Amino acid sequence: MTQSRPRISKAVIPAAGLGTRFLPATKATPKEMLPVVDKPAIQYVVEEAVHAGLSDVLMITGRNKRPLEDHFDRNYELEEALRRKGDASRLAKVQESSDLATMHYVRQGDPRGLGHAVLCAAPHVGDEPFAVLLGDDLIDERDPLLSRMVDIQRLHGGSVIALMEVDPAQIGLYGCAAVKPTETEDVVAVTGLVEKPDPDEAPSNYAVIGRYVLDPAIFDVLRETEPGRGGEIQLTDALQALAAEPGLGGPVHGVVFQGRRYDTGDRGDYLRAIVRLACEREDLGPDFRAWLRSYVTEEM
Ligand code: UTP
Repeated sequence: MTQSRPRISKAVIPAAGLGTRFLPATKATPKEMLPVVDKPAIQYVVEEAVHAGLSDVLMITGRNKRPLEDHFDRNYELEEALRRKGDASRLAKVQESSDLATMHYVRQGDPRGLGHAVLCAAPHVGDEPFAVLLGDDLIDERDPLLSRMVDIQRLHGGSVIALMEVDPAQIGLYGCAAVKPTETEDVVAVTGLVEKPDPDEAPSNYAVIGRYVLDPAIFDVLRETEPGRGGEIQLTDALQALAAEPGLGGPVHGVVFQGRRYDTGDRGDYLRAIVRLACEREDLGPDFRAWLRSYVTEEM
């Protein structure tokens, strides 16, 4: 059965949001370009897609799109300058992002919501299941999530979302899933979804996080999806329609993630991501950890 299912090869990365939580930094720069240590957040996300075997990447961009495209393109002037200096290690860093994946771009004229951004991918994706990775959500590469989701989609068909248990008081910040257990410990059957519920009415504390493997039936559903919460076309609402009617595009399953994840669109989480990843780096970590230890003990 799994052999007959098409292998997923395309990743879609919506990166057209306004990033208002990070103003003024995001006035003229996409939030996905903010550096996490010394790489823009979006590069970690593209690397994650490639590690999961998805090297055809479509980025949904909007205003201020240029830096995103430039980052994954060649920079001949810079490369030539580094070559002349004999600086091979920095040259490799510059070339890394342009050699990573086959990049495509489409522009979402108006940021009308995540569901609308995903719909912009329809002509490129065609009639195959595909992955969606939110450009401001970082999953630690040591805690593979997307490859697990791809495997679960091949097993069950339909769509697969990523879920994380959160403090019930925080569930109103996320899409929330009603779930039933399956025979596999980290996999649940999704029976319903609601975007940013009132915590008192939330069906669970399972929050939807920014990784999806979607059946292409989602496109037809999105075309019919009216603007929902915040006046935006919500991906969660379209997924709710799929979960409620498995005849449309197969079942919806959730992979419960217990690893490290950072929402780099949130200032606090962004800072935590930088501190944690910097501490763990072989080149920067030893000095940075020593400084951090003395800063915390002496100044806080
Ligand atoms: P967010 O909910 O984080 O919204 O979008 P935002 O506009 O980017 O940021 P804030 O809340 O104003 O600070 C989740 C993901 O969906 C993309 C964003 O780029 C982000 O990756 N998105 C959102 C779009 O691509 N288009 C949209 O119309 C909305």
